[in-house]
Amino acid sequence: TDPEKIKLGDGKDTKGTRVRVFGRVHRERKQKGIMFLTLRDGYGYMQVVLAGQLAKTYDALTLTRETSMEILGELAEVPAGAHAPHNRELHADFYKIHPGWKAAGGDDAITNRVSKDTEHATLLDLRHLTLRGETASKVLIVRDAVEYAFNVVYKELRLRKVSPPALVQTMVEGGATLFGLPYYTEEAFLTQSSQLYLETCLPSMGDVFCIEKSFRAEKSLTRRHLAEYTHIEAELDYINFDDLLNHLELVMCRVLEVALANPTVKQYIMDLNPEFEMPERPFKRMKYSEAIEWLVENNILNEDGEPHKFGDDIAEAAERRMTDIINRPIFLTHFPAEIKAFYMLKDKDDARVTESVDCLMPGVGEIVGGSMRIDQHEELMAAFKREEIDPASYYWYTDQRKYGSSPHGGYGLGLERFLAWLCKQHTVRDCCLYPRYFGRCKP
Ligand code: 4AD
Ligand code: MG
Repeated sequence: TDPEKIKLGDGKDTKGTRVRVFGRVHRERKQKGIMFLTLRDGYGYMQVVLAGQLAKTYDALTLTRETSMEILGELAEVPAGAHAPHNRELHADFYKIHPGWKAAGGDDAITNRVSKDTEHATLLDLRHLTLRGETASKVLIVRDAVEYAFNVVYKELRLRKVSPPALVQTMVEGGATLFGLPYYTEEAFLTQSSQLYLETCLPSMGDVFCIEKSFRAEKSLTRRHLAEYTHIEAELDYINFDDLLNHLELVMCRVLEVALANPTVKQYIMDLNPEFEMPERPFKRMKYSEAIEWLVENNILNEDGEPHKFGDDIAEAAERRMTDIINRPIFLTHFPAEIKAFYMLKDKDDARVTESVDCLMPGVGEIVGGSMRIDQHEELMAAFKREEIDPASYYWYTDQRKYGSSPHGGYGLGLERFLAWLCKQHTVRDCCLYPRYFGRCKP
């Protein structure tokens, strides 16, 4: 009978037992007639030893990296200093290469297509191959765990999950970044945010969240802007601004706890970001007006090369310098209405500003944007007018203020930006499967 089939990261106490494994050759090294392979299956890595005849046939068949193999053998313990994954190796006594499993060799070998010297643009075209690298696969495995953790934590907090449409006829975050498309005989857009739809769910489902794609036709090439990104959005009913901030920091910390409770995920995060530390609650709170003063004091100039003044947008570069110097999560709050979206509620004590929040993280800057929403019909109509938006196509949104309005607020978190911070990646492009941005729509 065949020995038990195990994944490469599993069965850590099985030394001495016979197992059957499947995987691709991640690395190969020959030493004194013995072939040492590192096998990879997405669940882990395993060192495999092919000795004697098995090593000879490996050569004779001109097998090479990325070949898929089925291997039978016995697990043995190796000393920690030997750098074998999980301090063990598989002493193979049989292997099989099924038809089609052999990886291309020669000029077409994967090592000739992807190497340290391959040009950046080519590497991006070859994302389907570079995904097999250790960093890329760790980031995507952490991503899976983090996305799952958001679902777990929202369930703990009794939010309900909904799935708003991606094809819409309204904008949320300004017309400049809308992707338009022909929709039968009409025009439609790809959604920029599900927020307005989430707001319509409150009366029937209570607090809600969604994890959907948002689309932005961003024309600038930055390390934190994608054309298509995963947007984690939540909307909470009968709350005030403090409730919103408390909820947000609780969610972010709980998500990290849940994700890190998985030892593999914790290991990958520490591999990718050795300095990672759990953020402390409460997060630092800073008003926009205080941030402007801070930027002036620290001689950080605005986009026109002048000292910042009230009303200025805090651009990406200035924001990142601020977060890098302060070096902890910051809730930046109370932005002026003019530089924020139409739906944001004004602060009762200071009509110049809104009850809005951006959460900034070291290394990345803004990873969350949220606010309390205007809940009075007249005030909302005035906001549409001020922003010169025709309210007609928003009838389903403005109706919410006619039929039992409520104080409510919510936020959107960019999953790729959260991961860029957590996994210390230079760009959000490396935090998604196949990045989409200006000039790139493949593979
Ligand atoms: O700040 P934004 O534009 O806010 C909204 O869309 C709100 N309607 C969300 C809400 O309240 N439900 O976007 C929210 C977050 C940003 O903080 C950022 O993390 C991410 O979405 N984001 C992007 N991520 C990658 N590429 C882009 N082009 C992004 N634009 C926004
Ligand atoms: Mg924003």
